[in-house]
This record gives sequence, C-alpha cells and structure tokens, in this order.
Amino acid sequence: MSAPDIKTALPGPKAKALIERDARVVSPSYTRGYPLVIDRASGCEVQDVDGNVFLDCAAGIAVNATGHSHPDVVKAMHDQAQRFLHMSGTDFYYEPQVRLAEELAAVVPMPGGVKSFFGNSGTEAIEASLKLARYATGRPNFIAFLGGFHGRTMGALALTASKTVQRHRLGPFMPGVFHAPYPDCYRCPLGLKSENCEAECFNYIDHELLVHLVSPDEVAAVVIEPIQGEGGYVVAPDQFLRRLRDLTKKHGILILDDEVQSGMGRTGKMFAIEFSGVQPDIVAIAKGIASGMPMGVSAARADLMSWPPGTHASTFGGNPVSCAAALVTIRLLKEQLMKNAAEVGAHLMAGLKELMSKHTLIGDVRGRGLMIGVELVRDRQTKERATEERDAVVNGAFRRGLLILGAGKNAIRFSPPLVLTRSEADVAIRIFDEALTEVSRA
Ligand SMILES: Cc1ncc(COP(=O)(O)O)c(C=O)c1O
Repeated sequence: MSAPDIKTALPGPKAKALIERDARVVSPSYTRGYPLVIDRASGCEVQDVDGNVFLDCAAGIAVNATGHSHPDVVKAMHDQAQRFLHMSGTDFYYEPQVRLAEELAAVVPMPGGVKSFFGNSGTEAIEASLKLARYATGRPNFIAFLGGFHGRTMGALALTASKTVQRHRLGPFMPGVFHAPYPDCYRCPLGLKSENCEAECFNYIDHELLVHLVSPDEVAAVVIEPIQGEGGYVVAPDQFLRRLRDLTKKHGILILDDEVQSGMGRTGKMFAIEFSGVQPDIVAIAKGIASGMPMGVSAARADLMSWPPGTHASTFGGNPVSCAAALVTIRLLKEQLMKNAAEVGAHLMAGLKELMSKHTLIGDVRGRGLMIGVELVRDRQTKERATEERDAVVNGAFRRGLLILGAGKNAIRFSPPLVLTRSEADVAIRIFDEALTEVSRA
C-alpha cells in the first residue's frame, strides 16, 4: 500500500453495496461524514473495499495510537487470546490487569498512590469517575464546560454540552451539573485579547457560578478536558488550569481530568494536563490506551478510591486482551511515539500554519503534538464560522485520499496515529492545501 492511491469514484461499487446494506440494518444515529468502507489498514494507511488507499489523519477518532495493527500489539493480543479471552476482572484476578494498573500508576500525573477502575469506553470511564467523585466527597454536584464532550451514557451526557442533537429528546439528565464557558482564547467568552488575559473567564466560576448557583461545599468535582476534543481542539491556557486547581483545592473540590481524547501520548506528553503542571485527582482515559481495543479507565488518587466491594464493577471491564494491547501501547509510547508525536506534530503544525498565508479561510491553527485543530472562518475579522466550507474541505480531502474529521461547528481535527512520519505529514498538508483551494474557488 502507498497512500494516497484512489482508483475508483468514491464510494466505489463494493463500498456502495455495503453502505446500502448498512442503511437497512444499522442504527441511523451514527454520524458518517463520508463513505469510507475499510477493508484493511497498517500504520497510517487505510485500504477500502475497492482497493483505494488513504492516508489516515483521523485514527478512528484519535484511537489508533500505535498505528493500525501494530505488529507488537497484534502479537501480544494473539498470545493473550491463546491463554484466555475473558474471566471478568471484577470477580477474579489476572496478571495483565494488575500490571496495567501498575503501569498507569507510574504515568498518571498524581501524587501518592494511584488506583484504576477498568471499563470499556470513554463514557464508562467518565461514569466511574462521576460515581467515585460523589462517593469520595459525599457531594452531589459537578461543574463542566460549554462545548465539552464527555460521552453519551446518561451521567456523562449530563456533562456533555457539545451539540444539541446529542441531547435532543433525551432528557431529563442527571441533575446537579452546572456549565461554565470554556477558556477559548480564539473566541474569548469575555471578548478579551489573549495577550493581556490572566484567564479572566475563570472568574465566572469563582465569582458567579459558585456565588449565585451552587455552594462550593456541595460540588464534588470540576470536569474538564485540558484540550476540548469534539468541541474543536481548543487548548485551555495553562494559567486557567492552575487557577482552577488553586480554587478547587481551597474548596475541597476534585478535578476530574477528561483525557479520553487528549491522553496517551497524543500531545507529546502522556497527558495534556501535564503542560500546566496541574495534578488532577481523577483521570478518565480511553481511546488511545489500547491501540483500538475497547478500554476505559478511571485512574484516581489511591486515597480517594476507597469504595467498598460492590459499589461499582463491570463484567467486561479490563478485558485481558485489551490489557495486553494497552501494555504494549504504553511501552511503545514511552520508547518512541510520544517523542514522535511532539516532533512530527510540530512539523505538521508549522506546515498548517504556513497555509494561513495562502488561505484566508483558515482562522486559527492550534493544538499540541499530534492533536491539531484548524478552524475555518469566512472572515478573519468577524470570525464568522465556515461550517459548510469545513464540511466541503473534509469531503474534498477524502476524495483525494486523506482522512480527516470535523470537530466543533467549523474546525477540522488532525488526530493521526502517533507513528505518522514527516513525509506523511507533508502529504497531508499538500492534500489539505488542495482541498482548501478547491473550496475557496467554489
Ligand atoms: C473527551 C472525551 N470524553 C469522553 C468521550 C466518550 O468516549 P466513548 O465514545 O469511548 O464513550 C469522548 C469521545 O469522543 C471524548 O472525546
């Protein structure tokens, strides 16, 4: 395979036939942006059922951290599958789950001991974290952020404030959730310029929310993505996170750090919150942790995770094959992939920023490592959101053999496997440039 290599009109005949079958029997709630029907994949290359080859800068929504089907990951899974597939880590013991918890305790940025609860997805990591925060503090309420995405089960959905379609006709939601504006410096909720800002939007929480709406001693946790993922790859300023830590410490409120999308090396550090030096109390992890195998983890300060047997559990959580995949993933991240994410991420970011001089459609390029967002606007002054143009660019890139995804109302995310090379990044930039040119002309 050599990406890109587009041989048919898209979707090709085999892809078209499968999409027709899908429409008859699969839930229409899924959001398919373009008609990709995967047949096989390796590293950053994806081949569809008609033999077209794509360069993957989406990684199954920021999941395939070590690239598609990394041979070490596949071998570890194969070895584990031959020993046993399942025993339920909630009722019995097995080494891969213990070893993974030990590995996580060594990398999660929290003081003292760390204990992990294992589930199967990001939303389950959040559910476990919410339950733990309530149990440990004896407090009922949470603060979350507008634009945030934390999952779709009923507890997590109460925090999620990303798109109304995700909530429409699904309420009422878990009570006790209060939303604050997210510190989006490109679209400052207070209309300030980032040069002279001391993260004033933080004051909304301190001086408004905790004064008029909810008493601090009734708040269990603030739930925050250090980089909003679905919200458009918006990076919270370090200063904001540090002030949040000071405030929460003062009131005995926990920080629940949602690293489902920003974690596991994607930003060039194991967890995005590490850039700020802030130590959270609970970290929710999923997506990249097991290179594509289902896994979600709530990792917490050991002194917090003292709930008794029966309080929370999961039949499939901590599946041994997923644990085997996660252990190899963490090794590869530490050995080379976090470094690669930082280096190739800087190269990709620089290339995308360069495109700004050519394309006025690009309003902002931001992110960390290989978690990069490009926000499209109709006018750089007014920052009018270029939503249709964004969708057209994503589709134009697909037709040229580049897989990218939208995020937020008008941003595009680059979230490739962390094995992306500099030359693959150059190909991504070239195709993105072509797609932008086509849309600007139209
Ligand atoms: C930050 C964040 N939290 C939670 C979730 C939910 O994860 P899952 O879809 O695995 O339930 C997502 C998914 O995109 C996410 O980006």
